[in-house]
Amino acid sequence: MSTTHGAGATTELTKEQVIEVLRPVQEPEIGRGLVELGMIPDVRIHGRNVGVTVELPTPISPSKPAIERDLRAALATIPDLGTIDVTWTARVRASGGGKSDAQPIKGVKNTIAVASGKGGVGKSTVAVNLAVALAEAGAKVGLLDTDVYGPSIPLMMGLHDKPLMRNGKIVPLEAHGVQLMSIGFILDPNKALIWRGPLVAQLINQFLNDVDWGDLDYMVIDLPPGTGDVQLTLVQKIPISGAVIVTTPQDVALADAVKGLKMFQEVKTPILGIVENMSGFVCDNCDTVHQIFGSGGGHRTAEEHNVPFLGEVPIQTAVREGGDRGKPVVAAAPDSATGKAFAYVAERVAVQLAAEAARKPRKPTIMLRTVGS
Ligand SMILES: Nc1ncnc2c1ncn2[C@@H]1O[C@H](COP(=O)(O)OP(=O)(O)O)[C@@H](O)[C@H]1O
Ligand SMILES: [Mg+2]
Repeated sequence: MSTTHGAGATTELTKEQVIEVLRPVQEPEIGRGLVELGMIPDVRIHGRNVGVTVELPTPISPSKPAIERDLRAALATIPDLGTIDVTWTARVRASGGGKSDAQPIKGVKNTIAVASGKGGVGKSTVAVNLAVALAEAGAKVGLLDTDVYGPSIPLMMGLHDKPLMRNGKIVPLEAHGVQLMSIGFILDPNKALIWRGPLVAQLINQFLNDVDWGDLDYMVIDLPPGTGDVQLTLVQKIPISGAVIVTTPQDVALADAVKGLKMFQEVKTPILGIVENMSGFVCDNCDTVHQIFGSGGGHRTAEEHNVPFLGEVPIQTAVREGGDRGKPVVAAAPDSATGKAFAYVAERVAVQLAAEAARKPRKPTIMLRTVGS
């Protein structure tokens, strides 16, 4: 079929022609072409009308407006083009991290370790809000509490049930759309337990292998503070796609954060970036952020160590209350300063992971050509 339009006759529009025109359009966060990244899984042609499906690398992607603008501009260069119909989907790609000999958890595409040099900086709070924000965006998310010394996920997610077994595996609990596992669901919270190296390794192993996680786009792993047995076991057992380092603005916390960062760099785990938590204080009756500890430390540290800065989260009563009531602030008060700040952190983490996944060598796409034509 060929159509005549306007002054001159135009040849029939082909999918190949559309793909060629789209080739220069970039995913702005990854800095590579949509076509090259496999983000255009489908092109539909009806006469001079074009339909394009764009598959974003994460459902929380901030790139949609820029991609849509650039894609429409590129298509507009096709002579006598009719309508443009853009369909959006998202598919999270797997990123195995730096360590290649560790065995990934079956069905889990990305593992995110949330770490810090010291306790009380808001690691668990970041892990919980990160997981819930990703799940709310439509991703399949798990949250594994590996802080065997002080599990806080049950409280922060508002669940105290005992997990059940199915086909010899532990079934994760679910809250706010997130699959959860924590030693806090299994043990009496008032019983003090002393965990020693081999026992920690065994427990972490069970969390990874004996839990029926199902298919997950992201598994967020809440770590105990520091660089101890849990961290070592984890980086040996599974490829960690990336580490998120949580710090507060004080210099001492930053020094601790750098220790955590170095540990992951030593075992070749990609650093997704630094989050500065408790970055200033937002009082209940005003919108102003008061800088109690100074500001910008997390940002500077990220720059000095050449890792991304993932955002700052102020101190707000709603965060602590949400944590204590099992309602993470991204779900309970998404429009609050901290709700928005955590959503931004989640977006940056997902974007960094997408960039990591894109760095992996891609399988060559099979090019189908008609022989003899
Ligand atoms: N941005 C914040 N604003 C207010 N309270 C916070 C904030 N971040 C964390 N908290 C509170 O501080 C305490 C310690 O946070 P937590 O996430 O348990 O730290 P960590 O896991 O690093 O030990 C918790 O009571 C938590 O609710
Ligand atoms: Mg914690």
